[in-house]
Amino acid sequence: MAHYMGFIIGLSFLALSSLCFSAKTFDGRIGYLYPQFYDHSCPNAKEIVYFVVAKAVAIEPRMAASLLRLHFHDCFVQGCDASILLDSSGTIVSEKRSNPNRNSARGFEVVDEIKAALEKECPHTVSCADILALAARDSTVLTGGPSWEVPLGRRDSRGASLSGSNNNIPAPNNTFQTILTKFKLQGLNIVDLVALSGSHTIGNARCTSFRQRLYNQSGNGQPDYTLDQSYAALLRTNCPRSGGDQNLFFLDFVSPIKFDNSYFKSLLAYKGLLNSDQVLFTKNAVSRELVKKYAYNQELFFNQFAESMIKMGNISPLTGYRGEIRETCRKVNAY
Ligand code: HEM
Repeated sequence: MAHYMGFIIGLSFLALSSLCFSAKTFDGRIGYLYPQFYDHSCPNAKEIVYFVVAKAVAIEPRMAASLLRLHFHDCFVQGCDASILLDSSGTIVSEKRSNPNRNSARGFEVVDEIKAALEKECPHTVSCADILALAARDSTVLTGGPSWEVPLGRRDSRGASLSGSNNNIPAPNNTFQTILTKFKLQGLNIVDLVALSGSHTIGNARCTSFRQRLYNQSGNGQPDYTLDQSYAALLRTNCPRSGGDQNLFFLDFVSPIKFDNSYFKSLLAYKGLLNSDQVLFTKNAVSRELVKKYAYNQELFFNQFAESMIKMGNISPLTGYRGEIRETCRKVNAY
């Protein structure tokens, strides 16, 4: 009998806890991102973001790459909370000063313009973190890449983390294992790593980000055999041993402003620009196979890219009553 009672109590407990769970998912979906989040509060939000991004990319095609990267550098530091957009002030030390961002992260003025347009249309409603997620998707589409529905409802942080930016965002000279570990710490896996690295199908890198590959500085005095030597010679003409740190190079020299799979094809030919690109093909059997798959099949890459972008956009968002909707993306609200 006692046994039977225990069973009944156990069952009731199970039923109760599942009720609690469904209540949680039902009550306005607090804690969850979903594409329709602004459908009533700001029905034109998505169109407004697209319009400003399209204008900026028409003026300067590289802007698509810069905006895509901002979302990545935001999400890897205390989650997708627009912390990267904060300027230094009071106790806040801006992430814009970190090693990965200094003299490199760009697109902040475009975000300002989007935010101003949204504040005019529906004040205090659309978060800067959601602007970054939408702008990343629009940038991908505008350069010929895949589209996806962006889950929305992120809120903005009231702080930034310079150390998080320095430590969490992979560096171009990190080993394959370090890069993978940094992705795993964010809940992303090796498939996400390879697909999202495909972002380097657009945009630029500075000489300082890959110089060591050109001058046998890898530590063993040997040429970097994972870099095609005639391509290396070409790169050396504008990336000297010293000086020229800020000189710009296309990450994908085949089609630098088109979102396609030529980045992966170049890796097969040992013509990846950054060491962190080429190691995807040379240092790990699983990632090597993925690189090959995406090089041979653009659709496969596009589908996985969209899926991995949604996953990245889901890293620790602030939702419900946490965080705030900033009035200006560069600073926290006064109240
Ligand atoms: C896997 C590790 C990654 C490393 C080590 C890395 C590193 C870099 C570096 C060094 C640059 C050039 C910066 C400069 O010289 O100014 C760059 C540019 C860029 N990265 Fe990454 N990246 C990684 C992953 C990603 C991911 C996951 C995305 C997007 C989801 C991304 C998007 C971009 C874009 C679009 C650019 C060009 C930006 C522009 O032209 O303004 N990267 N990355």
